[in-house]
Amino acid sequence: MRSNPEKSPHPEGEIVSRTMAMPSDANPYGDIFGGWLMSQMDLGGAVLARNIARCRVVTVSAETMNFVSPVAVGDVVTCYARVLSIGRTSLKIDLDAWVQCFKTGQSRRVTEGAFTYVAIDDQGHPQPVHRPEENAADSTSSAT
Ligand SMILES: CC(C)(COP(=O)(O)OP(=O)(O)OC[C@H]1O[C@@H](n2cnc3c(N)ncnc32)[C@H](O)[C@@H]1OP(=O)(O)O)[C@@H](O)C(=O)NCCC(=O)NCCS
Repeated sequence: MRSNPEKSPHPEGEIVSRTMAMPSDANPYGDIFGGWLMSQMDLGGAVLARNIARCRVVTVSAETMNFVSPVAVGDVVTCYARVLSIGRTSLKIDLDAWVQCFKTGQSRRVTEGAFTYVAIDDQGHPQPVHRPEENAADSTSSAT
């Protein structure tokens, strides 16, 4: 599959996970399951969403998910995430997974997607997201 032409040729956002693809994550032909990659991205997006929301989050939607290039057993998969938008209770996160060839050091994008998470309270009901500027203000006030 062709990568989204609007995507940068370099990883964007912050690293939210890095792991090695293992034989148990592969199909009989040695390629890594799409579902495993999707779960890496979902986890990575949840890391960023939870850091911003500062509460539990759940995935409500995977709007896009493109598999750009196959992943092999032994590849180290790194997920990058950045916020696309923040609503009242939801956060839309842009996610890309890249693998780096350990022999050449060259990286290539393997998946790209956009997932939405909802901040929830202890009862599982949506709750308003703390805005990053509120978080910054919080940390300033707690530091003084
Ligand atoms: C996520 C959940 C709490 C939302 O509950 P809800 O009653 O639909 O809440 P709302 O209608 O008030 O929507 C909450 C937010 O989610 C957004 N949303 C809801 N469905 C959406 C969808 N399909 N795609 C994108 N955003 C969606 C709404 O736009 C709203 O955003 P905003 O507050 O920023 O404007 C509920 O649907 C749920 O628990 N779903 C299951 C989640 C889950 O189990 N995920 C897998 C494991 S993590």
